[in-house]
Amino acid sequence: MVMEEIIRKKRDGGKLSPEEIRFVVRGTVDGSAPDYQLSALLMAIWFRGMDPEETACLTMEMADSGPRADLSRIPGFKVDKHSTGGVGDKTTLVAVPIAAACGVPCPKMSGRGLGHTGGTADKLEAIPGFRTGLTEREFFETVEQAGLSLMTQTGEAAPADKRLYALRDVTATVDSLPLIAASVMSKKIASGCGGVVLDVKAGSGAFMPDVQSAQKLARLMCQIGEQAGLKVSALITNMDEPLGNTVGNAIEVEEAMDALQGGGPADLRELSLALAAEMVFLAGKGSRKFCRKMAEEALESGRAFRRFQKMVSCQGGDPEALRRPFPLGEFTMDILAEQDGFLTRMEAAEIGRAAVLLGAGRSRKDEPIDLKAGIRIFKKTGDFVRKGDVLAELYASKESLLAQSAEKYRNALTFGTEKPELPPLIAGRIGG
Ligand code: URA
Repeated sequence: MVMEEIIRKKRDGGKLSPEEIRFVVRGTVDGSAPDYQLSALLMAIWFRGMDPEETACLTMEMADSGPRADLSRIPGFKVDKHSTGGVGDKTTLVAVPIAAACGVPCPKMSGRGLGHTGGTADKLEAIPGFRTGLTEREFFETVEQAGLSLMTQTGEAAPADKRLYALRDVTATVDSLPLIAASVMSKKIASGCGGVVLDVKAGSGAFMPDVQSAQKLARLMCQIGEQAGLKVSALITNMDEPLGNTVGNAIEVEEAMDALQGGGPADLRELSLALAAEMVFLAGKGSRKFCRKMAEEALESGRAFRRFQKMVSCQGGDPEALRRPFPLGEFTMDILAEQDGFLTRMEAAEIGRAAVLLGAGRSRKDEPIDLKAGIRIFKKTGDFVRKGDVLAELYASKESLLAQSAEKYRNALTFGTEKPELPPLIAGRIGG
């Protein structure tokens, strides 16, 4: 088989055969396909798309490009959760311990942040002493004792995705429906859980700009997952503004710990409960209504927080540190309103980029990040503000980073005289 012909076929709008897709994925993993040919193929797919059959085939080949995790030593129906990426999205830190406290084993591998979106693995490293790099044995022991474990991707789950994602990131081909679906679902299939709840984000801070395209992606992912024998359910959720009131790493963990102790912002609490209830439902614990009640009880009783504390101590961290404020960057700057009016729009991706400028995220893979950098948001879409009100506070470890970030943050906001209509936090559910 010749790579050039496969590229030409897709460039001209043809359908790739299973053999051709297998050839491409093998070449991705063994290095025989060079970056320039893979990049050209990715661009052809970006323009021409893939039908559901091609997408499912690509997903399965990617899932089998490395060993699949064997979680059979952990008893019970294991459920995973995945977000397609957002700004201020710390729901994993809240939803997963809630599901675990309802008796659902949650062995979860998390990724790192890239671009304007954050990653759970980075956030967790803000907890003093906490280790996200575990051996298989440590991972299993933590799930056994705490009911959940959050660790970094071992690098072995769907290795083809690692190379393809890195190429997509530098060739403007990330935002392709079949490529996102194959990337997400190959990792979920390889991760070995029986069920997965997807949080598919729609809006200015997401890959999918509107609810319709997010629904299309969710349908495709549910279909692929079900074909692979998984139980899959997806919530379509709003990412037109950051989730909660914080963006960064330490600052987001602090907010998540607040939520686990009964506080925190309403949107974070609601979305975390909805995702957790769906995880419990997929695990077959009862009707959706009953699972929601279980999730609320697990949160309100403090059992979910204690599960999280237990996981932290199993993974070398200090569980008492979770009750205290996290240290943040020593240089701060307030962003003040320059006029009276309603905050009508927040460009979530731009706010994510403002956090990257403070050092809280990385624009290139493997770049170091500053866990103490971040943004605390005081006013969100729909709020009325008066001139001089503090809209947000920036934290950085270097004073020189503040001004540029402040300008980006300010440019992400739109003000008006009329209160805007707010989109629902959860626009719908697919599958399950
Ligand atoms: N998250 C992933 O894991 N892959 C994508 O392609 C997009 C979001």
